[in-house]
Amino acid sequence: KRVGVLISGSGTNLQALIDATMDPLQDIGAEIVLVLSNKPGVEGLKRAEKADIPRKVLSHKNFKNRLEFDMAVHEELVKAGVEIVCLAGFMRILTAEFTRKWKGRLLNVHPALLPLFKGVEAQKQALDAGVRVSGCTVHFVEEDVDAGAIIVQETVPIELNDTVEDLVERIKRAEHKAFPKALQLLAKQKIKLGSNDKIIWL
Ligand code: GRF
Repeated sequence: KRVGVLISGSGTNLQALIDATMDPLQDIGAEIVLVLSNKPGVEGLKRAEKADIPRKVLSHKNFKNRLEFDMAVHEELVKAGVEIVCLAGFMRILTAEFTRKWKGRLLNVHPALLPLFKGVEAQKQALDAGVRVSGCTVHFVEEDVDAGAIIVQETVPIELNDTVEDLVERIKRAEHKAFPKALQLLAKQKIKLGSNDKIIWL
C-alpha cells in the first residue's frame, strides 16, 4: 500500500515507519510515497530526504482557513497516489471534511492509553494524575480529536521521580514499535474499520 505521512516536527515516528517499511524482513506491506509537513525546515523532512522519499511543505499560514489547507493536503495525497495516511506528530486539527474522505485509511499515534489523557501534553496529564502506567495508542482518526477505534496500544511503566521528559522519551520508544505494527495490520488487510466505527479483525 502507498502511504503518506503527515508531520510537523522531529519525525522520530516517521523514522520508525521508514525503517520498518524499508526492512523486507518486517514485511509491513507498505511504502511511504510522500512526507508532508505543515512546517518548513523540520527534522522530519531531513529524515525523509535521507531516505529519498518525496517531500512537500504546505504551510497552514498560507491558507485562508482550515478547510482550504486540508483540501490542499488532500490533493497532494491524491496526486501521490496515497492509499493510507499516517499522522506522525502532525500538530494540526483536521476538519471533518478531511477525516471523512480518509475514513478507515487514516491513522494517528497518541502518547497515552486512550481514552485517557486526550489532547495536548498527554504525558504531563498522566504524571499529574499519578497513574503508574501509561503508554501509546495507534487509532483510526475520527472527527473528534484523539477519538476513534483503537488498533494497537503499548504500555510503559511510570517510574518514581520520572520527569515529563523521561516519560516523553519512554512513550516515544513504545510508539516506534506500535505504529509500524498498526500500519502493517491495515496495509495487509488484517483489520478494517466497520460501519459501526469499530475494528473488524479479518
Ligand atoms: C509523538 O509523541 C506523538 O504521539 C505526538 O507527537 C509526537 C511526535 O513525535 N502526537 P515525533 O515527531 O514523531 O518525534
